[in-house]
Amino acid sequence: MSDINQFNITQKVKDSFETEPDSRFEKILHSVIDHLHDCTRELNVTHEEWMGVLNFLYDCGKISTPERHEFILLSDVLGFSALVDMINTRGGATEGSNLGPFYLDNAPEKKLGAHLADDRDGVTVLVHGKVTDSLHKPLPGAIVDTWQADASGTYPIQEQEQGQDKMDLRGKFTTDEHGRYYYTTVLPKPYTVPYDGPVGQLLRAGNRHAWRAAHLHYIVRAEGMHDITTEVFFENTEYIDNDAVFGVRKSLIAKLEPVKKLDELDIETEKKPDAMFKFDFVLAPESKKR
Ligand code: BEZ
Ligand code: FE
Repeated sequence: MSDINQFNITQKVKDSFETEPDSRFEKILHSVIDHLHDCTRELNVTHEEWMGVLNFLYDCGKISTPERHEFILLSDVLGFSALVDMINTRGGATEGSNLGPFYLDNAPEKKLGAHLADDRDGVTVLVHGKVTDSLHKPLPGAIVDTWQADASGTYPIQEQEQGQDKMDLRGKFTTDEHGRYYYTTVLPKPYTVPYDGPVGQLLRAGNRHAWRAAHLHYIVRAEGMHDITTEVFFENTEYIDNDAVFGVRKSLIAKLEPVKKLDELDIETEKKPDAMFKFDFVLAPESKKR
């Protein structure tokens, strides 16, 4: 190693790992080392700058808890989460978007037509659509698992100390024989990602805001198909063009409409809606590669 210098160190570091040749692990490790070494050389990084990076990562670790994962937030605001979602969207399927930190896998099962928001304030909206495969074949028995913020931009899980039930504003619907799902809820409002930690400092340093466009979260599953994790946004709403975590995609923006006669749609709901929108989910078969 005595002939080591700033140009050959990259290869030497890669060679120091005894990874299985051509394995995925080796590919990723080597690529990360290559890119970070190149960047460090190109920028002539100083000791102070490098310590700044390490201390920032240390602070992300320090503030993280089982409920708060600052590194995921970092990945979100730097667009990595969105990029991984985009790369992993299956051809023909609904585009993926952020899972976010508020998913619970044991949401209550709800009947089609149920109201998700009990007596909460807000605009009651009918959400309806189909789950199909990419050839438009309906998928009966698919699970539409949804969770959302309320009309003040808060997830009930964030306010458990104030007596909120963390299972509010979430539910699992099973599509009917035509692959349809429908329910009513309140329209959510935008909210901020947590900005009281190192990621917040990063946003401030870059003159960025912490707001997310209002959205509904979904995980949709059907037998033999790839699950999708995604979000639905609303046309012409605040932050739709500058969501803090880059979650918005054109194909995920729904248009709110006046309510049609529900019997024409052959839909019965527990609560009368003030507005409605349609959103169809398309799943790709499990066997299909990206
Ligand atoms: C959310 O959509 O709930 C969310 C996403 C990323 C960071 C924080 C919250
Ligand atoms: Fe969210």
